This record gives sequence, structure tokens and C-alpha cells, in this order.
Amino acid sequence: FQAPILKGKRVVVTAGGTRERLDPVRFLSNDSSGKMGYAVAAAAVAAGADVTLITAPTRLDPPVGTKVVPIESTTELRDAVITAYQRADALVMAAAVADFQPLQMADQKIKKTPGETEFTLRLQPTPDILQEVAAIKQPHQVTVGFAAETQDLLANGQKKLEAKHLDLLAANDVSQAGIGFNSDDNQVTFIQPNGVTDQTPKTSKKLIAQALIKRLAETLASK
Ligand code: PMT
Repeated sequence: FQAPILKGKRVVVTAGGTRERLDPVRFLSNDSSGKMGYAVAAAAVAAGADVTLITAPTRLDPPVGTKVVPIESTTELRDAVITAYQRADALVMAAAVADFQPLQMADQKIKKTPGETEFTLRLQPTPDILQEVAAIKQPHQVTVGFAAETQDLLANGQKKLEAKHLDLLAANDVSQAGIGFNSDDNQVTFIQPNGVTDQTPKTSKKLIAQALIKRLAETLASK
């Protein structure tokens, strides 16, 4: 897969799980390893694109040839995406974004109070990045999302595709062992705005990423 189908195109890819800090030494996060997003970034580089990889902390080496923008929180991810998107042809949001963040971050490490049997954490929703992107999207730009679902994959995926004004969505069933979060393999159902859906076999994230980049290039070419 070395065809330069994205030559001259600027592609922004997000990866990893965002971290929402409670205090200087603790955070809320999720099981995302970054493997899916890094595979998409590598496939986009192989396809000839100029790639910006906006990444939450991971254990992975970024693919050679990407411009790396490290972030931690959803708010930082939002700011980095909005900045990079202004000059981009396409955005692929593979990052596992926290849906809630603490209402306040404590300046000092939170201490246990003697006798305390309950501790209440107050959370507020994070910004929906893809929805903010939809508001500034230009006609030539393409946005691709993922949907991490544990039930009703197709129906929930279709709702996200519409709500976030996406050109393509890759829905993965994250309740299944061996695919989704942290594994080397994945299986996705691609959903397009015209209602066309197709499911990949369970295979490596590398091959899933290549299939996604092929569809992304076709969508860009059709704009
Ligand atoms: O990193 P890996 O271990 O390889 O795992 C890969 C993965 C399972 C994380 C990946 O394949 C995946 O599904 N990523 C999306 C996870 C997610 O946040 O899904 P969601 O259904 O909650 O969100 C839908 C879409 O909206 C996603 O593209 C997400 O990036 C985006 N989003 C979500 C919340 C938010 N506040 N803003 C967003 O833009």
C-alpha cells in the first residue's frame, strides 16, 4: 500500500485516550493504547499525505514522517484539533475522548479525611470536538470519526455520523475480546452518509487503517 493517493493532502489524526486530571498525581482516562490512531497516521504517511498526529500519552513510537502534537486533556485535544484543522484537508478522530472532566482540578493532592466513607467527584461534560469541527467545516474538508460501542453498533454509529456531520464513520464493538481498545486487531463497520455500510473482517489495525485511508482518499476526490 504505497500508492500516493493522498499526495499533497494535509491529514490530521488523533490517537490515544485523553486524561482528565483530578489533582497533580491522578487522572481519569480509558484503555486506549493509541494503536488504531497510530496505524491510521502511518497509513496516511504511506499514502503520501502530510500528517499531523495529535496524541494523548501512549507507549508507542510515533510513525516516522508525522508531525507530532502531544496533548493530555480533552480541552487540549480540542484546541490542537481546531488549530490544525484550519489548514487540513481531512481529520480522522481515532482518539478515545473522555466524555466527562472534573468540575475542578485540585491544586494539591486530594487527601483522605479520617472517618470518610464516601467521596463524591463532580464531573461536567467535555467539549464535543467533532461537533465543534462540524461548525467550522469547509466544503472541501473531510471528517472521519470512530464509534466505540458496546451495543447496537449500526444504529448508534449512524446517530453519531449524523450528529457529528461526518463523511465516514468506523464503528467498532469494544465489548468483544481481541478487537477495539488495546488489541493489535480490530473489526469495524464503515458507515457512510448515504447509508452504505460495510464490515471488515477481524484483521490487523494496520489493514483496517489502510482500508480507512482508501475510503478517505475516495471521499476527498469526490468533493
Ligand atoms: O487506541 P486503541 O487501543 O488502538 O483503541 C482504538 C479505539 C477503540 C480507541 C478506536 O478504534 C476508537 O473507537 N476510537 C474512538 C473512541 C471514542 O471516543 O468513541 P466515541 O463513540 O465515544 O466517540 C465518537 C467519535 O467522537 C470519536 O471519533 C471520538 O474521537 C469523537 N469525540 C468523542 C467525544 C468528544 N467529546 N469529542 C469527540 O470528538
